Amino acid sequence: MFKILLNLNLLVCVFGRKPNIVFILSDDMGWNDVGFHGSNQIPTPNIDALAYNGVVMNRYYTQHICTPSRAALLTGNYPIRSAMQGYPLKPGENRSIPTEMSVLPERLKELGYKTHLVGKWHVGFSYKKYTPNERGFDTFFGYWNGFISYVNYNMQYYNEVGNDGFDLHENTAYAKNYEGTYATNLFTDKSLEIIDNHDTNEPLFLMISHLAPHAGNEDNMNALTTPDLDETNKKFGYVEDPRRRNYTDIVYQLDKSIGRVVEKLSEKKILENSIIIYSNDNGAQTSGDFHMNSGSNWPLRGQKFTLFEGSVRGTCAVYSPLIKNAPYVNENLMHISDWLPTLYEAAGGDMSKLGILDGISQWDNILNNKASRNELLVNIDERLKYSAYIDYSGQYKLVNSSYQRPDGSNVYDVYAGDTGRGANNPKYNISEILESPTNLAISKITAKTITKQNIIDARTNLDISGRCRQNISNKMIDCKEKMCLFDLFDDPCETTNIIDEFPEIGKKISIKMQDYYNVLVPQKPNVDDQTSNPKLCDGYYFSWLEEDACPFKKSGGDTLYSYTMISTALVLSLTLSLYYF
Ligand SMILES: *[C@@H]1O[C@H](CO)[C@@H](O)[C@H](O)[C@H]1NC(C)=O
Ligand SMILES: *[C@@H]1O[C@H](CO)[C@@H](O)[C@H](O)[C@H]1NC(C)=O
Ligand SMILES: *[C@@H]1O[C@H](CO)[C@@H](O)[C@H](O)[C@H]1NC(C)=O
Ligand SMILES: *[C@@H]1O[C@H](CO)[C@@H](O)[C@H](O)[C@H]1NC(C)=O
Ligand SMILES: *[C@@H]1O[C@H](CO)[C@@H](O)[C@H](O)[C@H]1NC(C)=O
Repeated sequence: MFKILLNLNLLVCVFGRKPNIVFILSDDMGWNDVGFHGSNQIPTPNIDALAYNGVVMNRYYTQHICTPSRAALLTGNYPIRSAMQGYPLKPGENRSIPTEMSVLPERLKELGYKTHLVGKWHVGFSYKKYTPNERGFDTFFGYWNGFISYVNYNMQYYNEVGNDGFDLHENTAYAKNYEGTYATNLFTDKSLEIIDNHDTNEPLFLMISHLAPHAGNEDNMNALTTPDLDETNKKFGYVEDPRRRNYTDIVYQLDKSIGRVVEKLSEKKILENSIIIYSNDNGAQTSGDFHMNSGSNWPLRGQKFTLFEGSVRGTCAVYSPLIKNAPYVNENLMHISDWLPTLYEAAGGDMSKLGILDGISQWDNILNNKASRNELLVNIDERLKYSAYIDYSGQYKLVNSSYQRPDGSNVYDVYAGDTGRGANNPKYNISEILESPTNLAISKITAKTITKQNIIDARTNLDISGRCRQNISNKMIDCKEKMCLFDLFDDPCETTNIIDEFPEIGKKISIKMQDYYNVLVPQKPNVDDQTSNPKLCDGYYFSWLEEDACPFKKSGGDTLYSYTMISTALVLSLTLSLYYF
């Protein structure tokens, strides 16, 4: 009887109402930093519960860094269409997603959704028209830049002048008085408020775009802030490296947040008609000199900024009671730009209205495990001169050169990060997953509750660490001298260049990639406009190209004049800044 009621309920949902969509995006979180990929180091019971109850998109690709990834997610197009394929936005750059391109929240609004963004934006704010409230979000609570302090919501950016400004906004106002509240908790509280206040007669789109586990400010040695160091050390003392230990707690807090969100959807009785997506934006920045967070992409090769798998093979789990075939692991190719058409279709939109996009709807794929994509452009950075392309249903990947660090070293290309399998780590705690708020909430609305054995089986299957073709600690093929071709089915860790064995395949893929070289929209100059400096607005970031965008009295004329002079000199002398995020 219960089952029949349940099914009737689902039918009503499917035919009567558009699904609620909750999209949870983490920042710089590594492949090896969720439990369901096989690491025992960081407990992520709630993300794991989404994965084991839902669909793991196991061949899911993001972009290689934050701004391109967010541009692809929001526009449904490769970033080469919006000139966003290169470095992430520095705070004083006037770039944005072109206003003539529709973005995901605008599309969902057309279908009647209430749309909310909590957390990071990072696709432009020089003009108000580039900011979230004018790009389809009914409400916005978060920050415009690429990162922020976990406790005081200042964004520190040390260029030649030295930007350091407050960057937390509630819609168009500055969100003051939150100093001291830990960012992950604050963003969670705001998300719960949105769900609480939501009128369930309308469909909800909530994007929770976390700071975690990105480094919290420019200071590289103390930027991985946890809520309470004593607690961190007590709970995660088994992690030897203190930075990695903090990172572990940061991810653990992010996971707890997801549990609270799912619990709230359940309380509000809308979980039964919701789609919940967990995704990272790109791989971790394990080491290096900026924003290294000690995250781990192991055993995949490379870190953020590169086009190797450690950077672009994303972690993604989709849970929804609307997916009748779940739980299962989906091995079909998907790209982050696919979310716009996928969610538009899930929401019952008329697909012909979307026009031509690089993104391909994966809704049928997610529901029915039917491949709809054979290939994808990983990226082309025409300025830094490196690119990659995946073809043959995900089997072959062509890598044309590598990301060049300013100092010429190749630390970003290497295998790095904790294996999470060492004997110092605790055993994987399956009860913790079964008893997680996420699993408990899901158990209430499903007839297919998962078991301990389901979890063990799924996890064994999802752990790719035994499938590297060669011992990765010995291997580092260079793709600069000669292009690389990798067989990702046989060699997911990209250890062996097979371009000489399969020149025809390499040729065929390079012709396709060339087609994209021919149509890409070239990048704009990465000029950090010093008139954007928060010092010119009493320490607040503001839409500096807008008349009167700073609500505070600007500093005196003399100061403004000297900044203008400095900025003129800087604009002339600035080439690419060394500060990336
Ligand atoms: C944006 O910045 C670039 C580089 O400084 C400049 O050439 C361009 O005119 C600026 N555009 C706007 C709209 O301010
Ligand atoms: C770890 O977090 C604490 C706050 O709990 C902070 O004081 C400390 O600087 C952090 N360590 C690192 C390496 O970021
Ligand atoms: C490889 O990169 C070089 C340098 O950017 C570019 O000129 C060339 O067209 C690329 N080749 C392919 C096959 O994409
Ligand atoms: C595993 O998780 C359960 C449920 O959270 C907890 O009660 C138990 O103490 C954990 N076991 C270990 C060995 O930590
Ligand atoms: C891989 O190579 C490293 C370094 O040479 C060695 O310590 C390790 O035992 C090797 N692992 C395997 C599985 O062969």
